[in-house]
Amino acid sequence: MRILITGNMGYVGPVLTRFLRENLVDAELIGFDTGFFGHSLTGAGLLPEALLNRQVFGDIREFPPELLDRVDTVVHLSAISNDPMGNKFEAVTGDINLQASVRLARLAAGRDVKSFIFASSCSMYGDAEGGARKESDPTNPLTAYARSKIGSEKAFAELDLGDMTVTSLRFATACGMSDRLRLDLVLNDFVACAMTSGEITVLSDGTPWRPLIDVEDMARAIAWAIARKPEIGGKFLAVNAGRDESNYQVRDLAEAVSRHVPGAKVSINANAPPDKRSYKVNFALFKSMAPDHVPQVTLDESIRRLREGLASMGFADKDFRTSTYMRLKVLERHIAAGRLGPDLRWRPLPRA
Ligand SMILES: NC(=O)c1ccc[n+]([C@@H]2O[C@H](COP(=O)([O-])OP(=O)(O)OC[C@H]3O[C@@H](n4cnc5c(N)ncnc54)[C@H](O)[C@@H]3O)[C@@H](O)[C@H]2O)c1
Repeated sequence: MRILITGNMGYVGPVLTRFLRENLVDAELIGFDTGFFGHSLTGAGLLPEALLNRQVFGDIREFPPELLDRVDTVVHLSAISNDPMGNKFEAVTGDINLQASVRLARLAAGRDVKSFIFASSCSMYGDAEGGARKESDPTNPLTAYARSKIGSEKAFAELDLGDMTVTSLRFATACGMSDRLRLDLVLNDFVACAMTSGEITVLSDGTPWRPLIDVEDMARAIAWAIARKPEIGGKFLAVNAGRDESNYQVRDLAEAVSRHVPGAKVSINANAPPDKRSYKVNFALFKSMAPDHVPQVTLDESIRRLREGLASMGFADKDFRTSTYMRLKVLERHIAAGRLGPDLRWRPLPRA
C-alpha cells in the first residue's frame, strides 16, 4: 500500500509516521511538506522523516499531480493549523486549507486514489452552549481556521469524487509529546508553564470546555480511516474523533497538571474576558464505528509523556510563549528574515 502524507513535518506528522511504520510495516510512506517547521525538532533522536520511504518538498498550492500515481491513500494534514495563524494569515488560510485541499481531493479522485483522510477539527463547533455537539448539530465557526475546515468538508461532501472514500476526522484539541512539539496547545502549554516557572497561568477564567486527544490517538484514528470501507459510514464521512470522557474544563486541565509537577501552583485570571471558544463534543459515533481505534492514552499519561519529553530536552525557557515552540512565531521569524513572503511562499535566497 502506498500512502501519501501531506503536512508530515509538523506536530502530528512525526507521531503518525512512526505509528504507521510500526503498524503497517509493508506500507510505502511518502511525505509532502513545505517545511515551515522542519527545523523545529524537539529532542528527536532520529529525524522523523527517516522512517519514510521518501520526502518530497513542495507547496500544496502547487501540488504536482504525478505524485499521486499508484497512491492508495492520501492523509491530508498540511494546513495553517490554528486560530492565531489563521487570524494573521486569513486569506492564505483559505488558499491553503480550503482551495488547495479541494484541488488535492479532485486530483486524487482522478488518479484512482482509494481513500482520502482529511484532518478536520472540532473547533468548528466554536461557541457551543448546552450539550455535547454531535456531527449532525449546527456548527458555529468563530475563526478563519474553523471556517476553512467546514468549507473543505462541505466541498468533499458535494463534489463528485468517484469511488474515493473520504473520511473527515473532526479532531479534538491535540495534546501530547511529538518530535516536533508545539506549546501553543492548552495542555502542552500548562505542562511547560509548570516545569519552567512552577506556576500554571490560565489565560482565561478557566471555565471553557475543550475536548482533548493525544497525538498518538490521532494517529490511531487515522489508521482506522485508512482501512475504512464505504459500508461503514458511507463514501463521505465526517466524524468527531476523540472520546466523551476527554471533555474537560480548562481549569481541570490546569489542576491535573499541577498534580504531576510537585509545587506547581495554578493561577486563574478571574477577570479575563470570556473565551468564546467553548464546546463539549459527543464522540459516540466514532466509538460505535471504530471500537478498536478509540483513544487509549489517558490525560495522566499525556502529561507524563510531556513531562518526560520536556525534561529530557532540559527545557527551561520561561518565555516559551514567545519562542519557536509557537507556530505563529516561527512563521513570523521566517518573514522577518526575508525567507517567506506574506503569502507564505518561500523566497529565493539572496545571491552571495
Ligand atoms: N493540533 C491540533 O490540535 C489539531 C486538532 C485538530 C485538527 N488538526 C489538524 O491536523 C493537521 C495537522 O496538525 P499539526 O498540529 O501537525 O499542524 P502543524 O502546523 O504542526 O503542521 C502542518 C504542516 O503542514 C505544512 N504546511 C502548511 N502549509 C503548507 C503548504 N502550503 N504546502 C505544504 N505544506 C504545508 C507545514 O509545513 C507543517 O509541517 C492540520 O490539518 C490541523 O488543522 C490539528
